[in-house]
Amino acid sequence: MTRTTFRKEQCLGYPQFSQASLTNSQGVGVIVCQCRVVTDRAVDAALADGARSVSAVCRTTGAAQDCGSCIFTVKALVCEHHAREDALLAADGAAS
Ligand code: FES
Repeated sequence: MTRTTFRKEQCLGYPQFSQASLTNSQGVGVIVCQCRVVTDRAVDAALADGARSVSAVCRTTGAAQDCGSCIFTVKALVCEHHAREDALLAADGAAS
């Protein structure tokens, strides 16, 4: 099985969501896929569990499996996640 890996170029042109802007005041998370009732928290959990691509996140969470209109939001969340990882790696590199 070929593993699809994330490429930074895939995020070019995508606006970066702020995680705080998607999380409501109760901290419950926001539904990003209406068809499958998938929240931004579920997307984050999939990424934390090792999903490395938009398709892997969609397979794991069920997002974008029906109408597909949520795919851009899922992609933006994946891009945001990888941007945060890159920033942490850069900070680690700078600290050492
Ligand atoms: S809103 Fe996600 S598949 Fe329809």
